[in-house]
Amino acid sequence: MAKNILVVSGSPKKDGNTAWLIKWFAQGARSVGSSVKIIRAAGLKHKVVGCTSCRLCQKKQAFRCVIKDEVSDCVASFLDADVIVMASPLYFYGASSQLKAVVDRMFSLYKWNNEANTMQTPLKGKTFVFLGSGYEDVGFDAFEKPFALTAEYTGMSYASLVVRNAGVSGQISRRQGGFSKKAFELGKKIA
Ligand SMILES: Cc1cc2nc3c(=O)[nH]c(=O)nc-3n(C[C@H](O)[C@H](O)[C@H](O)COP(=O)(O)O)c2cc1C
Repeated sequence: MAKNILVVSGSPKKDGNTAWLIKWFAQGARSVGSSVKIIRAAGLKHKVVGCTSCRLCQKKQAFRCVIKDEVSDCVASFLDADVIVMASPLYFYGASSQLKAVVDRMFSLYKWNNEANTMQTPLKGKTFVFLGSGYEDVGFDAFEKPFALTAEYTGMSYASLVVRNAGVSGQISRRQGGFSKKAFELGKKIA
């Protein structure tokens, strides 16, 4: 069955390595009839950067961040997706801050009851995909771990494509390693 796929790109570059990985992944997913929407985190208007830890989302029934800005809209739209894809360049051994500012607002998509030690989330059962790249070959375990752990904690199935030695922005398209095929096939498989 065709899937509804939402991609959040954490790269500030419109034609960089992350954009290439997303393009190939989306081509694969669309080749089998799935729909793919791409949101650039760097283009979202923020009222505040990141999560303010106000905890108001925990007092409301809706799984929705109370801050009224485009990041809240982006995060709320995760609920309509079958597959959530996060894509990022490696910045100092982690994801870009543009993407992290979106990820932290995902707090609103969980309801915790600390007394009962329970957690509820409508993300459970969805698929989570991480697409990453970096210039060198160092720190990739730290880069990917938060995404793999988030999927595990949330009860989402997880897949990833992480490209080491991808070069500077845009060079991935000229690198050996069959990355276009790998990303295309991942998109096709996930869809
Ligand atoms: C602020 C900044 C920090 C970076 N830090 C690292 C790093 O720690 N390790 C690494 O291998 N590459 C690092 N890079 C290189 C990028 O991760 C790499 O070129 C990536 O593929 C670029 O993706 P993009 O074109 O989508 O932005 C950094 C680049 C920038 C701009």
